[in-house]
Amino acid sequence: MSTVSLTINGLEVTVPKGTKLLDAALGAGFFIPTLCHDENSPNYGGCRICVVEVKGARALVASCCAEAANGMVVETESPAVVEARKTILELMLANHPADCLTCDKAGNCRLQDYAFRYDVKQPNFGGERKDHEFDDSNPYINRDMNKCILCARCVRTCKAVTDRAVIDLAYRGFKTKVATALDAKLAESLCVSCGRCVSVCPVGALTYRSFSGKARMWEVEKEQVTCTWCDAGCQFD
Ligand code: FES
Repeated sequence: MSTVSLTINGLEVTVPKGTKLLDAALGAGFFIPTLCHDENSPNYGGCRICVVEVKGARALVASCCAEAANGMVVETESPAVVEARKTILELMLANHPADCLTCDKAGNCRLQDYAFRYDVKQPNFGGERKDHEFDDSNPYINRDMNKCILCARCVRTCKAVTDRAVIDLAYRGFKTKVATALDAKLAESLCVSCGRCVSVCPVGALTYRSFSGKARMWEVEKEQVTCTWCDAGCQFD
């Protein structure tokens, strides 16, 4: 197998050719935050929270999409990287409900984790905010598109993993949202409530109704279950 050697945070690392910078860094024991990346779905490169600094590159590089190359010198937490991540988080939080105290996802939310890690408290950005209707039409899944960060993990999972494509990114610009066909409520769509979209949502946009308001994340134990809806035997938390 052909390999490439690079330096990550001063450490010499050798990985198989074609390895993404993210995997090379994680494999070497370094932390890189991710929001849109999902190892079971096609690469997306949408959130940019995983950016790293590559010596000689003109801009920060999305590590989930860039391949490791021979001789690369990579910094995963340089001042420029940290500054970029803080700005990305501030932009997301500027248009996100500040209800972490009562959100069902509190304690298991990547946005919350990263805001804590990078000390992002008050967003420096103002402006228009999303105002989507809360969708509790489905007996198993709650959808709060005001909490959606448009990472599209649910879209790619529904499309690539379950082969359904019940949801997709719709509209444009500020109005972009994850929607069903004709923007119908989930109960009126072709959704079969498999819950795969909920299991990959990194924030509180998609949550299980059975859990809603009954406990806090750190009070429950997660279990791997096997879906019996079809013969595929899909497993998820
Ligand atoms: Fe790499 Fe989102 S995790 S761009």
